[in-house]
Amino acid sequence: MIMKLFLLVSFLLLLTSCQGRRNLNTWEDKYPFIRYASSFSSSSSTAVGKAYDYIIVGGGTAGCPLAATLSQNFSVLLLERGGVPFTNRNVSFLRNFHISLADLSPTSASQYFISSEGVFNSRARVLGGGTCINAGFYTRPSHRQVPLFGIFLIFHQLDIERLGLDAKLVNESYPWIENQIVHMPKLTSWQRAMRYGLLEVGISPDNGFTYDHLYGTKVGGTTFDRYGRRHSAAELLKSATRENLDVLIHATVQKVVFDKSGKKPKAIGVTFKDEKGKQHLALLSNKQGSEIILSSGAIGTPQLLLLSGVGPKADLERMNISMVLDNEFVGKGMSDNPMNSLFVPFKTRMEQSLIQTVGIAKTGVYIEASSGFSQSPDSIHCNHGMLSAEIGQLSTIPPKQRTKEAIEAFKRNKHNLPHEVFKGGFILGKVAHTKSRGKLSLCNTNIDDNPSVSFNYFSHPHDLQQCVHAFHIIEKLVKSTHLTNYMPPDEDTFEKLLNLSVLANVNLLPRHANDTRSLKQFCKDTVTTIWHFHGGCQVGKVVNSDYKVLGVQGLRVIDGSTFSQSPGTNPQATLLMMGRYMGVKILRSRLGKAAGI
Ligand SMILES: Cc1cc2nc3c(=O)[nH]c(=O)nc-3n(C[C@H](O)[C@H](O)[C@H](O)COP(=O)(O)OP(=O)(O)OC[C@H]3O[C@@H](n4cnc5c(N)ncnc54)[C@H](O)[C@@H]3O)c2cc1C
Ligand SMILES: *[C@@H]1O[C@H](CO)[C@@H](O)[C@H](O)[C@H]1NC(C)=O
Ligand SMILES: *[C@@H]1O[C@H](CO)[C@@H](O)[C@H](O)[C@H]1NC(C)=O
Ligand SMILES: *[C@@H]1O[C@H](CO)[C@@H](O)[C@H](O)[C@H]1NC(C)=O
Ligand SMILES: *[C@@H]1O[C@H](CO)[C@@H](O)[C@H](O)[C@H]1NC(C)=O
Ligand SMILES: *[C@@H]1O[C@H](CO)[C@@H](O)[C@H](O)[C@H]1NC(C)=O
Ligand SMILES: *[C@@H]1O[C@H](CO)[C@@H](O)[C@H](O)[C@H]1NC(C)=O
Repeated sequence: MIMKLFLLVSFLLLLTSCQGRRNLNTWEDKYPFIRYASSFSSSSSTAVGKAYDYIIVGGGTAGCPLAATLSQNFSVLLLERGGVPFTNRNVSFLRNFHISLADLSPTSASQYFISSEGVFNSRARVLGGGTCINAGFYTRPSHRQVPLFGIFLIFHQLDIERLGLDAKLVNESYPWIENQIVHMPKLTSWQRAMRYGLLEVGISPDNGFTYDHLYGTKVGGTTFDRYGRRHSAAELLKSATRENLDVLIHATVQKVVFDKSGKKPKAIGVTFKDEKGKQHLALLSNKQGSEIILSSGAIGTPQLLLLSGVGPKADLERMNISMVLDNEFVGKGMSDNPMNSLFVPFKTRMEQSLIQTVGIAKTGVYIEASSGFSQSPDSIHCNHGMLSAEIGQLSTIPPKQRTKEAIEAFKRNKHNLPHEVFKGGFILGKVAHTKSRGKLSLCNTNIDDNPSVSFNYFSHPHDLQQCVHAFHIIEKLVKSTHLTNYMPPDEDTFEKLLNLSVLANVNLLPRHANDTRSLKQFCKDTVTTIWHFHGGCQVGKVVNSDYKVLGVQGLRVIDGSTFSQSPGTNPQATLLMMGRYMGVKILRSRLGKAAGI
């Protein structure tokens, strides 16, 4: 009897494990509408090819929920330059977070770029976009911060009814995302220590687990499930109306094609190349209201607009791009929130964690935490997670000295490092509401190459002041009992780490933390990115309040390039919501009640 039961259980286990593997391998069954770009038949020149009601460029954080929603009533073509995330182990598991970012090859799910200041940064190149390579922390912005609200307050101050309607739709759009891909985190001991440490130093009240943006300390949501498996925006495509959606992967859009015969230039299609390098042209249907929507992210969208002839006249002329519309604001207002970090040594080895806890100070700085992997007896397998030198977060040397050679040097020396340098957690300080601004411009006309991007970190004194302020909080935090309980009691370990800090790539508290002048220098020298870069196609400058590109017809931008500030402590919730929200809004404005949504 027991034997039979045993056999039955083993059989069931075998069945589920096989199914597990089957699911991983056969995304084609779940997503039959995703195909390689080379399968697209480009017969549009003869006008017999399939034309679409919407062509969305970029299957990222905003692009996927947008495509899924629009497909309810219209034909949609979603073009993504990267591959699928489903079978890619580098993106599928929390423990591999640093691996895609450290993969600097052209096939990586993450395309690295170095801003003119020398800070290493990453942009997604995979279906699901940033949600496939990010740290998974999910948290809504404050009601005031919702960019859509800001716009409506400016443009429709008296239109209370409409504002109310939009606020309701915003409220409904979050759960649509959350029910599909967001989870409650299992707090690791480091994240718990941070939570109580933050409360101890006065970042209160304790708001517990919540998606809401509230002053004090809270635990946010995560797109990693309890097994450490990532859930990305690509999974939202399951909600699409299959027969109305075509998704092409490895489809790199090179430009938007305009019909310039009318009064205003009108977007009518896009050119793209497939995985074999072959060119294609995809066209919009002739129906009134058909649109091209750029959701290529804060670097990709301004780059694509420039390559399509929309941007500052002088920049276009310099690149011999024939001008469609002169708009000096394309690529302007770029900003990235600086992140500075501190290493906190521990007595014992750490569990790995990405962001779970956040302290939201009224003054506009956010304190978050992460920790790498230190359970291996061999240093070579240990890593610093979000702060890994391998991904260019070389935070102990000034940005200008952070080169690929410096990364290689770290990797060569890694096995010589003692274990202490991996036994610890990081405290991260993020400056919100940045005032420093930079710009984006083309280096060449190749869409595969990064444009030149500057963020001018800390060029505005406000941002520097805020970083100093964050470190005053962090200084108290490392002295709080909730943190010191975990720390080694002996001075020796600290001395040793201090001696090794550059080789090991860990910042310890600056010795003169009270001295504002030296803290300012520390902020500048140790600046890294938290990857919340935004801007380049801002509302009121490049797009209007409905995200329609000013001065042309049939073209919108829906992604982080439209932001003048990064919303919430971390932006992905807003971007996911925005995709869903704009999808519903477009359906409603085209179909009215007949949209049935
Ligand atoms: C490493 C990292 C960690 C982060 N951690 C967090 C976090 O924990 N929490 C949080 O809230 N936010 C986090 N963020 C930020 C957040 O993920 C991004 O702000 C967000 O994903 C950006 O969304 P988007 O829709 O604007 O662009 P993306 O999601 O980047 O989408 C753009 C898509 O367009 C595609 N594309 C670009 N150009 C073309 C082209 N020419 N043709 C076809 N396709 C194209 C890209 O491949 C990409 O898939 C992190 C970001 C990174 C990079
Ligand atoms: C995962 O990363 C490794 C290490 O950089 C790389 O060799 C491999 O090709 C990557 N896999 C995928 C599917 O991108
Ligand atoms: C949206 O939700 C928040 C709380 O979740 C609530 O305070 C607000 O009144 C809601 N707004 C609308 C218009 O439903
Ligand atoms: C632009 O065209 C001119 C004249 O044909 C040429 O000399 C120049 O190199 C071109 N510039 C670029 C960036 O292609
Ligand atoms: C740190 O470095 C100094 C000078 O190089 C040396 O005297 C000291 O012994 C080192 N301390 C430790 C703990 O390694
Ligand atoms: C730093 O400031 C704290 C109070 O903010 C004070 O207790 C401490 O003595 C100061 N340290 C130095 C070295 O001045
Ligand atoms: C739009 O799609 C919804 C859901 O399938 C459907 O109920 C509605 O009738 C459709 N509207 C139109 C105008 O086709």
